[in-house]
Amino acid sequence: MNNSPINFLDLRADHAEVRDDLDKAWSDLVDTCGFVGGGAVDEFEAAFASYQRGTHCIGVANGTDALELILGAAGIGPGDEVIVPANTFIATAEAVAHVGADIVFADVDPDTLLITGDAIDAVVTERTAAVMAVHLYGQMVDLDDVGAACARHGLALVEDAAQAHGAEWNGVRAGSAGIGAGFSFYPGKNLGALGDGGAVVTGDAELERKIRSMSNHGRSSTSKYEHDLLGRNSRLDALQAKALTIKLARLDDWNDARRAAAAWYREYLPAAVRPLVIRPEAVAVHHLGLVQVPDGTRDSIGALLEQHGIGWGIHYPVPCHQQAPFAGATPVSMPVTEAAAGRIMSLPMHPHLSESDIKRIAEVLGGHPALAESA
Ligand SMILES: Cc1ncc(COP(=O)(O)O)c(C=O)c1O
Repeated sequence: MNNSPINFLDLRADHAEVRDDLDKAWSDLVDTCGFVGGGAVDEFEAAFASYQRGTHCIGVANGTDALELILGAAGIGPGDEVIVPANTFIATAEAVAHVGADIVFADVDPDTLLITGDAIDAVVTERTAAVMAVHLYGQMVDLDDVGAACARHGLALVEDAAQAHGAEWNGVRAGSAGIGAGFSFYPGKNLGALGDGGAVVTGDAELERKIRSMSNHGRSSTSKYEHDLLGRNSRLDALQAKALTIKLARLDDWNDARRAAAAWYREYLPAAVRPLVIRPEAVAVHHLGLVQVPDGTRDSIGALLEQHGIGWGIHYPVPCHQQAPFAGATPVSMPVTEAAAGRIMSLPMHPHLSESDIKRIAEVLGGHPALAESA
């Protein structure tokens, strides 16, 4: 068997496609010294708002800030509860904690590992103000179901779209489904910067005005020296904006390539290695190659992959409600999330995987004693 490594991510291959443009962007910036704000940021914000089919985009420093700024600008804070799926990256919960609201965790669907309307119904109270709809792994939550639950209880829907650039549900794109969406441009995301970066996308002009000000020291829109709101520094810098504009032009092709890789996984993986269910209404962008393996087999499967130079990860081995800062936030168990945490693993997923790479990963997995029968 060919034993060349198969990386979990391959940013070098992505960047090779746009290298000349990235080099030119950097060189132009060093010449002009317009490092923060300005035309490069305006250009990216316009392009990304239009791509996400939202009306407004505000570039910010990272995805966590984007979520916190949406909650803060929407007036959510002390005394409010915000529902957060237990199966998410910790940043979703951090954003809620940092505006002073109480986190209430909700369990997820066993097939998609995403939050559901029933899970919201199970934990909603009269203090609930919002739901963090996390489009985890590149698939949007069931918007019909989650949207109906939010409408039923009068809750704001905030999208955590950090892993869902370009994802859709029934023609609605991540970023245009709720009051506001937070995106991360951490380098490994489907659209990644050359460092940290993030954005808020919203259709609400008042929310946009507030977030634009709050992310820039609460500055007034008319005077550089006056500050209307309590703000902070959470600005997207011009280099990141230039790199993101360049890479945004490749995003649809890269997402198509991820979908092709996901289809090959479905075709070749042994039956006991189960990819997540993708709902027919969803256009998923496969941020991660998430699969579930039989209980008790993950460590030895991971060791086998490593022996063959194949990268893998776990997203996430410790559920958010069991992480130290949040343990005790909700004294209830999250059975689906807790069971999944022991059997999920993420296989390589990026736009430069070939069919033969994925055949080889499947073949290696088929050589594991617990998976061989199903190969
Ligand atoms: C689901 C989710 N939410 C929020 C974030 C936070 O983004 P950032 O790391 O840019 O702050 C991430 C990124 O890691 C994420 O995966």
